[in-house]
Amino acid sequence: MELDKYDQALLNGEYGETKQKMMEILLALGKIYEAEKFIEVKSVQVSGASFKTIGDAGLSWLNTLSGKAVVPSFLNPIGMPRDEWQNLGIPDDFAKKQLEVNAAYARLGIRLTCTCTPYYFNIIERGDHLAWSESSAVSYVNSVLGARTNREGGPSALAAALTGKTPYYGLHIVKNRVPQIDFHIDDPAATKSWTNAHYGALGIIAGAISGNRIPFFTDIRPNRDMLKSLGAAMAASGAVALYHVNEITPETRFPFFKKHIEEDDREVVEIEVAEIEELFGSLEADVIALGCPHLSEEELEELASLLENRRVVMPFYIFAAEELRAKHPDLCNKILSSGAKIVPDTCMVVSPLMDKAGVVMTNSGKAFTYLPGMCKATPLLGTLEECVRAGCGE
Ligand code: F3S
Repeated sequence: MELDKYDQALLNGEYGETKQKMMEILLALGKIYEAEKFIEVKSVQVSGASFKTIGDAGLSWLNTLSGKAVVPSFLNPIGMPRDEWQNLGIPDDFAKKQLEVNAAYARLGIRLTCTCTPYYFNIIERGDHLAWSESSAVSYVNSVLGARTNREGGPSALAAALTGKTPYYGLHIVKNRVPQIDFHIDDPAATKSWTNAHYGALGIIAGAISGNRIPFFTDIRPNRDMLKSLGAAMAASGAVALYHVNEITPETRFPFFKKHIEEDDREVVEIEVAEIEELFGSLEADVIALGCPHLSEEELEELASLLENRRVVMPFYIFAAEELRAKHPDLCNKILSSGAKIVPDTCMVVSPLMDKAGVVMTNSGKAFTYLPGMCKATPLLGTLEECVRAGCGE
């Protein structure tokens, strides 16, 4: 690989032992993927933040590291809220370990944003090179914002944070971003009434078929929240890090992509509206969990309006970034008066909160996919409105 003076100095240990090790990780990755060089990244998002997922081995490794991030670097959801975990029944021994994980990341200069939606609070521009690792966030910045990142693992993202570099391969290179599989819907008119949950259901099906290929959709007109649901679910049921929706996602408007869209041979798959509808179940839930990925402002508003003058009759958890909660106290108060809980910093999958939940109803295709394996919960898929109705016993 071609190395510049800074890369070489990092490898020589001139910036300390940790950064030397981090550069060795990146170099090994670059060699595996035959990258010709390293590039600078504008920001990093680091996963492996919950003690539930990294355990003692991950925590010990973090504690061996030193040095500071050299680019803005955001932490993924952790296993509990930073401040109010005592009120949520989080076990003390788990909380103690999680606080140690937080301290380790803070020491390394990683911002404790604790969200999978840092793109709501930071400017990400088309063409920016990033090193992000949470799969739904990777999908969103690549597909909806037109930035460029591979789906990094926790260690390679941390290495990028501490060095500001990543190997130039995969989705950083424009020619690797063209569609590889086409999806059609048998009844496009039916999609006009689809909600975020329907796009999550579409993502469950399309992701499983796509694997790690780049899907291209026609026939659908999703808004940004729907795109978020679609991408998150495809990243969970498959390994989709980038997808395109004709004339909706930014890269489909550029001549280079248009040419490939029109000329390349690709597998074509038709998905039936009936298959999407079959994924929706009854309203018989024990717990409601919303906010996977973390809520947008629009979703928070919609939820506040649905819960106004209602009372929840079962545990009702809403996951959102602390930054969003702090920005909208009035909306949050409306939600809290219904008895629902807004839980910042963590998520339904990486926190122990859902571990004994039983039947969990959600509007997220990603959560629907992960809840059985990660939390031993039985998932139910419903629209936001159905989740509210079920949670209020209606
Ligand atoms: Fe975010 Fe957790 Fe869902 S990280 S995308 S809320 S599984």
